[in-house]
Amino acid sequence: MPTGPRHETDPDRRRVTVVPDGPILVEGPVEIVLDDGRKVVSDRFVVALCACRRSRRFPLCDTSHRRRTRPADPRPDG
Ligand code: FES
Repeated sequence: MPTGPRHETDPDRRRVTVVPDGPILVEGPVEIVLDDGRKVVSDRFVVALCACRRSRRFPLCDTSHRRRTRPADPRPDG
């Protein structure tokens, strides 16, 4: 019986990694089927799927999850 993670013992098993406050990384190539039936294909080695819904390239991550609001301007008239 294998003792390691299944990914390491089954070469056909793909790894999916959830990045905290970031995308979901999926080993490619992948075909993503959206809720409206459209398909998005990526042949990349690792595909970053948007989990925040802010990406302009949804379902692919465009790093929009990193954007933060600017801190308030400390100047009195700023
Ligand atoms: S997770 Fe990166 S843009 Fe949404």
